[in-house]
Formats: sequence, C-alpha cells, structure tokens
Amino acid sequence: MDRKLDALLFQLLQNMTIAVSGEKLARDLQVSHSTLVRWIEKLRAAKVEIRGELFTGYRLTRVPDVLLPQLIRPRLRTKTLGRTLYHFYSVDSTNAFALRLLAHGRNVPDGTVVLAESQTAGRGRLGRSWHSELESGLYLSMVLKPVISPSLAPLFTLGCAVALHHAVQRVTRLEPNIKWPNDLLVGGRKVAGILAEIQAEVDRIHYLVLGAGLNVNHTVFPEDIRERATSLRLVSGHPHSRLEILIDFLEQLEALLERFQTAGPGAIVSEWTRHSSFAEGRHVEVVDGFRTVEGTTRGLNPFGALRVETGTGRVEELYSGEVRRWN
Ligand code: BTN
Repeated sequence: MDRKLDALLFQLLQNMTIAVSGEKLARDLQVSHSTLVRWIEKLRAAKVEIRGELFTGYRLTRVPDVLLPQLIRPRLRTKTLGRTLYHFYSVDSTNAFALRLLAHGRNVPDGTVVLAESQTAGRGRLGRSWHSELESGLYLSMVLKPVISPSLAPLFTLGCAVALHHAVQRVTRLEPNIKWPNDLLVGGRKVAGILAEIQAEVDRIHYLVLGAGLNVNHTVFPEDIRERATSLRLVSGHPHSRLEILIDFLEQLEALLERFQTAGPGAIVSEWTRHSSFAEGRHVEVVDGFRTVEGTTRGLNPFGALRVETGTGRVEELYSGEVRRWN
C-alpha cells in the first residue's frame, strides 16, 4: 500500500506547478478513480497537502517533507546500505517490521533499510517507547549481516552513533555530544537514540537490526519527556531536512563499517571518543542490567567497552548499559 502511495506522491511531485487530472493519475497508476480518491485521502492524513481542483485535477500545495525512496535512491552513494528500501507512512515500529521480515524467511539483503514517517509503537531501549510523531523525526532500521563475532556487535551501535553525530553536525552545524553508549545529546537533552536487536549464535551473528530515532523537527514533546528531550529544530530555531540528514548518515555509516571490516574498530573507537564528553574523567553511575557500577570513566577499550574506575581503583569494562547519573 505505502509503495503505491509513494508512486502517487512522486507523480504529483513531478508535476508540482500544474494540476494533474484524476483521470491521468488513475490511468498512470493503473487504478480506478475511487481508489485514487482513497489514496489521496491517505496522503492527506499523512499531512501531505493536496488541493483538489474542480475540472483540472489534483495539485500539491507545498513540497512535502516525505522520505520518498524515489527521492533517496538517485542521490544515495552507498554500495549496500539502503539499496533495498521500505518506506511507510505509518508502521508499528521499523525495528519490529524488519524483524518480522527476517523471521518470515523473506529475502532481506544485507543493508536493507526500513523507513517510517511515523510509528505507532516505536521501541526504545530497556523496554521503553520512542515518541515517533509524523513528519518530525527520522525513524529507521537497518538490517546488517556482518561476518563477525557477536562480542563485537556493540561496536556497530557505537559506529551508528558516530555516523549520526557526523550527519547531524554536517547538515545542521550543531555539535551533538554522544552519551555512552549511543545517545546523542544537544544542550544536555536527548535528540537521538539507537536500539540494536540481534539474532546470533555463540560465534556468529545471523543479523543485526539497528534502529535509529532522531528528533529533527519536533516543536513540542509529551509532558513526560519534555524535560529530557529536544529536537534539532528546537535548538537551532529552524527546521532541517530529514532527507539530507538521512542520506549523509547512511553514507557515513557505510564508510565507517567498511573501515571496521577492513582495518578493525580503531576508527569507531577514536571518533566516538572525540565526540563524547563521557569518554574520559566523567563521574558516572552505570546500570548494566543486573548491577550498578559507579566511578570515573577511563575511555573505551579497543572493543568499544566503557572503562570505569571504581572507588577501589578497580577498572570495570562495560559493553552495554545505561548511564543513570553523571556529573
Ligand atoms: C533509545 O531508547 O534511546 C533507542 C530509541 C530507538 C528508536 C528507533 S526509531 C526507529 C527504530 N524503530 C523502533 O521501534 N525503534 C528504533
């Protein structure tokens, strides 16, 4: 369904300055007029402004900020990441959709990307939800099938945070801070989070679904997260192109992961360290599922684990978890 809506929207976009007759649209898309009317309504529900003009037809009244695969494909200079694209106007969760595809044994090539304009049940880390308002954020999941040991999987989420950092910095000129392990903060508030879901054997990863959520153009947040969350728009005072950030992010991430496969994790570890105020000398309290570690951060080890020196002088190496308190 969403692919058909994409095709209709693309037709309208190509004819922005004129109204296109319903007859022509229906003919080009090979559907009946009543189906066309239904699709127009669905696009309108996704905030696409379409004027229906008596006698002449349909016309877009502003360029919609929709992540159309037809707009992404010609610009994306990656080899695998994003070569297969799924795009939804609304989906429960892009991670959940990607996992369903994989579970049903469908052919899901390495680098498949699932994008959504909005999510009805966006998933966050540690069982939380992710606020996924229509047209405001980037909500995407990437299916990766790296030939590496599962113990190296955390490096993928660190790499994802680095690529997101670079894309945000390039497109918006803002300078996000990476909070361990993979949140992006701007002005101390969260603008992005990453959720990795993995299917593996002891020594082999079957697949990794890396989900990223970035608050781009939100102007308001629900009460319960208002104090902790922000968007790039709220910080900079003007909206930003989700399409530009997305393309830059996918290109950066692919380059970083290629370097990882050929030269090891050095680049991810050093780039992460360069852009995180949490890497060194920060007093933190980290919860890693079953225990709490308190101490001072002492950088990442070569495999991406956070080194925390506790009060006794012992250094703990943490591969996952959450920084609950910090100064
Ligand atoms: C976090 O809690 O910080 C991680 C949030 C990850 C949210 C993204 S949005 C796209 C993808 N699909 C989901 O359901 N979650 C991730």
